[in-house]
Amino acid sequence: MKIAVGSDHAGFEFKKIVIAWLERNGYEVSDMGPFNEDSVDYPDYARKVAVAVADGNCDSGVLLCGTGIGVSIAANKIPGIRAALACRPEFATLARQHNNANIICFSARFTDEATIDQSLHNWFTAEFEGGRHEKRVNKIEPCC
Ligand code: RB5
Repeated sequence: MKIAVGSDHAGFEFKKIVIAWLERNGYEVSDMGPFNEDSVDYPDYARKVAVAVADGNCDSGVLLCGTGIGVSIAANKIPGIRAALACRPEFATLARQHNNANIICFSARFTDEATIDQSLHNWFTAEFEGGRHEKRVNKIEPCC
């Protein structure tokens, strides 16, 4: 599986931790930047990751910014993207099981490495449950 990863400057250090976890666990990583801690705008990187996932070039994505909120909002503007902000590991599980999310977003300023590791584990082991959740997910579409 190929995973797109991106952040802004606030998420830059944690992005390295995410990439290390992914590589340790056998995933191919497409690092969409940034590549240093200079101040950048999170929508630029959220868009890169979201487009890679929406186009099918990557299987899913991981995004980080200070709160995780900005990258979530920006990624969800790309049709076909369901980006979920995981504030705790259980959110990562449920985002997959109930929402069939295809991008997981983290706060770099309000989390720790253990939480991100556990969230990534949950994210990649949980599966979409379909059924009543599929009907609901299918209703999440641009309407105008
Ligand atoms: C950058 O300072 C910060 O605004 C950004 O990382 C993010 O938290 C936005 O949602």
